[in-house]
Amino acid sequence: MCGIIGYTGVKKALPVLLDGLAKMEYRGYDSAGVAVIHNGEIEVRKAKGRLAELCKLTEGDALLDGNCGIGHTRWATHGQPSVENAHPHLSPDGRIALVHNGIIENFAEIKNELLQKGYPFRSQTDTEAALLLICSHYAGDPLDAIAASCAEIKGSYAFAIIFADFPDRLYVARWDSPLLVSPGYAASDAIALAGKCEDAAFIKNGDIAEITSDSVTIYDRALHKVDRPFLPLAVRAEQVGKGNYSSFMEKEISEQPAVFTETVVKRISDGNISFPEINNFDGVYLNNLRKIFISACGSAYHVGLCGKYYFESVAKIPTEVEIASEFRSRDVLVDKDTLFIVISQSGETADTLAALRIAKEKGARTLAIVNVRGSTISREADYVIFTEAGPEIAVATTKAFTAQLGIISLLSLYFGYTKGTIDQSGLRSLLHEITAVPAEIESALPELEHSKKTAESLKDAHDVFFLGRGLDWYAALEGSLKLKEISYIHSETYAAGELKHGSIALIEQGTPVIVVATQPSLYDKMAVAAAEVKCRGAQIIAITAAENEKLINLADDAMIIPEAYPLFAPFGAVVFMQMLACECAKLRGFDVDKPRNLAKSVTVE
Ligand code: F6R
Repeated sequence: MCGIIGYTGVKKALPVLLDGLAKMEYRGYDSAGVAVIHNGEIEVRKAKGRLAELCKLTEGDALLDGNCGIGHTRWATHGQPSVENAHPHLSPDGRIALVHNGIIENFAEIKNELLQKGYPFRSQTDTEAALLLICSHYAGDPLDAIAASCAEIKGSYAFAIIFADFPDRLYVARWDSPLLVSPGYAASDAIALAGKCEDAAFIKNGDIAEITSDSVTIYDRALHKVDRPFLPLAVRAEQVGKGNYSSFMEKEISEQPAVFTETVVKRISDGNISFPEINNFDGVYLNNLRKIFISACGSAYHVGLCGKYYFESVAKIPTEVEIASEFRSRDVLVDKDTLFIVISQSGETADTLAALRIAKEKGARTLAIVNVRGSTISREADYVIFTEAGPEIAVATTKAFTAQLGIISLLSLYFGYTKGTIDQSGLRSLLHEITAVPAEIESALPELEHSKKTAESLKDAHDVFFLGRGLDWYAALEGSLKLKEISYIHSETYAAGELKHGSIALIEQGTPVIVVATQPSLYDKMAVAAAEVKCRGAQIIAITAAENEKLINLADDAMIIPEAYPLFAPFGAVVFMQMLACECAKLRGFDVDKPRNLAKSVTVE
């Protein structure tokens, strides 16, 4: 979703701001803008649509020649995508400009009061209320005005603000929306700072910071100076490029064997698993645990479903899974005897964060599986395990999904062994199998050529069905989500046994049905399900192992997954479905990295 960048220093601000915004394009946005202080005046330029529009608009603009400025990519929440609603917003006297990530919940009250005092509003955004509130408090000291305003604001915000009276300074403030600071820089996403500075500090809720070219001074909400740790940036400039690939998604798909090794295999040695983050989860704790509860959104929720399968079958711990937005909508039974796990690539997903906070309030022990270091979820959970996927730029997740699935499957082995549901030799053989996953994914990647052919047969489809059972059902859910979000082909996923309870009515001559069958114990049942739809005209695309002859013989097309131990076989199947979705989207002429209407980091409810 929205992205913030700020710069003050000896360089020209505009190219720094545009570069930072370009690095955050992956987050999703519908307008962009910059404000630069030039000769003591603030100049604002904004454009609807892609960043390229803003680049065109600002090219050669001598009035943007200053050394201090702020930039923003906006994902509309209050007010449609338009130039008026795009950030930065400029005060009526032209002396203060502000960009904002988050949502100001009491903006209507603030706006009413300010309207009564005669402040004019030019946009439909909640952000403008924050800007005008700061104006109303400003009497020459930016910190006082920001602190007084933040005390009145409810909701979430990361602000970057410039004052024409202080042409070499940036001001920032945050509540529940991430913000990093470094001398000369501020940004909402570490990626925007890659290659610009070596280390940065995440400011905390309530913090306000003043930034010059060579200093950062951080204050708490009462304007007392505070220290926040500066840590090396986890993102390197070269990780933010496409390399030899034509899209980030293709690059990220290809990185999965290495990501799995970094995330999972590196934790295994001498027949043991190392999870130092949770080494106090001993046998007594795990045996007394009433249940595990997993909450997440989208693809991470699909990982949660697999987690339920793993924790129940391997570690014999009852496990519930709930979409985070639903978790917030009912009174879920979670207490101190629950281990509450949240899974999130970004670590900023608003619903997942809210679910985590509710579970903490209810007394549950919380564990987060997160990719982005420093993210809010990673800082608020009692325990955190980081996936080592590196920056994931394509909006549709691929390598982060595989890394999350890797961690949850390894955790189930760890819990099972610690509890005693698997013995040393059982653990050894499972570790041997999980260590083989990177090679299995690697051997699936050359099937790209096959994916291209299969994609040809799918590209004009109106509706596609995915079928699976058990783990394969969850893998199919993920495959279907990938196809929908980047190729815009409608698809539905069914637990194979459920199809005949109504939905089989939708199968017509030529309807593509993707049958995911990686579990030998379920081959026969899956072949029956495939036969049922085949005789109603379905075009069957099987994703299965070479030995599953029954299914392969009745399929119109079969993508053969590498041989793998059943528990870990879905990894290869998901990689096939990622490639298939990617090829379909390309054939249909879409940008696979930036699907319409989607944001990478969903920071609003
Ligand atoms: C799908 C996708 C989304 C995310 C979901 C959760 O490709 O990327 O469904 O999985 O928005 O995001 P995180 O993992 O950042 O909490």
